[in-house]
Parts: sequence; C-alpha cells; structure tokens
Amino acid sequence: MVTAASTIRDASVRDLPQILKLERESATAAHWTEADYARILGDKDCGDHLLKNVVLVAEASDATQPLIGFIVARAIGKDWEIENIVIAAGAQRAGHGLRLLRALIDRVRKESAENILLEVRASNGAAIRLYQKSGFDQDGSRKNYYSNPDEDALLLRLVLT
Ligand SMILES: CC(C)(COP(=O)(O)OP(=O)(O)OC[C@H]1O[C@@H](n2cnc3c(N)ncnc32)[C@H](O)[C@@H]1OP(=O)(O)O)[C@@H](O)C(=O)NCCC(=O)NCCS
Repeated sequence: MVTAASTIRDASVRDLPQILKLERESATAAHWTEADYARILGDKDCGDHLLKNVVLVAEASDATQPLIGFIVARAIGKDWEIENIVIAAGAQRAGHGLRLLRALIDRVRKESAENILLEVRASNGAAIRLYQKSGFDQDGSRKNYYSNPDEDALLLRLVLT
C-alpha cells in the first residue's frame, strides 16, 4: 500500500500516459479520449488563462514511482465542475483522494470560484462519501444519465461563497 505521504502538483503533458492508464484501469471513473486530455493539458501548458482547467496529480515523494492519482476540474464562469478523480486501486483508502480534492478546492477558491459541481453515479458510494466528507451536498439527480450500465446521476454541489 502507498502511504498518505505524497506530493500534489499541477499535471503536465508528460503525465498524459499515466493519467490515461489510471483512468482506463478504473471502471467507475469518467472516461475521456486521449485527445480530450491532451487538449486540456496542452492548454494549461500554453498558459492560456481564459481556458480555466485544473489538473492536479498525486505522486509518491520519490517521483520515479507511477502516479498515485489525479483530479480534473473545469470552470464554467464562477462555477467549477469536477470532471474526474481517480486514485490507483492499490493506493485507495489511504487519504490520497481527500488530499487531492482539498487541494483542488483550495486552488479554485483562489480563482474566485463560487460553486463546485459534479455528477456521480448513484451507486458510487466511495466517491459520494468522499465528496460529502469535503462538504458537498446533493443538489438534484438526473434519471438514467449514465449508460453501460444505465444509472441515475446524483448532482452534488459545494458552495464556496
Ligand atoms: C473515489 C476515490 C477517488 C476515493 O479515493 P481514496 O483515496 O480511496 O479516498 P480516501 O482514502 O481519501 O477516503 C476519503 C473518504 O472517502 C470515503 N471513502 C473512500 N473510499 C471509500 C470506500 N471504498 N467505501 C466507503 N467510503 C469510502 C470515506 O469517507 C473516506 O474517509 P475514511 O477513510 O476516513 O472513512 C477512489 O475510490 C477511486 O479512485 N475510485 C474510482 C474512480 C471513481 O469512481 N472516481 C469518481 C468519479 S465521480
């Protein structure tokens, strides 16, 4: 098991292969194409401040180890949306997800965010509890929002103002 001692930093395009690997290995993660991730990471590296994306990664203090996890969020005005959070299966329940989420919350507060929103599968108890532990409340649901398998989404919101 990887301990909770980890470093959190902004992702770069060099992290793309490991981010994709983590995502592909997780059945309950949101799944994007490589091009989607490349665009978000590329935009960040260009320093275009109009495109507000935040991608944070957690890695072991010895950075030669594989990434422990990542989180992706995008701004829609003052509302930010968490698009994905994944912790490697062998590193879960060690506090890394909570630390990544709290780092993301701290970051978007500095960007004057007013809300953080997200959708999560109704059956994803681990993620729902992680978000609730960080202060998110349910703010509705979407019937049959997901497919493969069909499932409702819970809408969660953290109000920052
Ligand atoms: C959801 C996920 C990111 C949590 O990461 P994690 O590093 O294991 O979570 P943490 O160790 O920081 O746990 C923080 C809290 O979340 C809750 N939690 C996390 N995993 C849980 C589980 N399997 N069962 C119940 N509660 C869980 C607990 O409240 C936990 O606090 P506790 O350990 O003091 O009880 C991880 O399970 C994951 O990568 N899942 C697959 C991808 C996914 O579904 N992402 C969500 C997409 S919306």
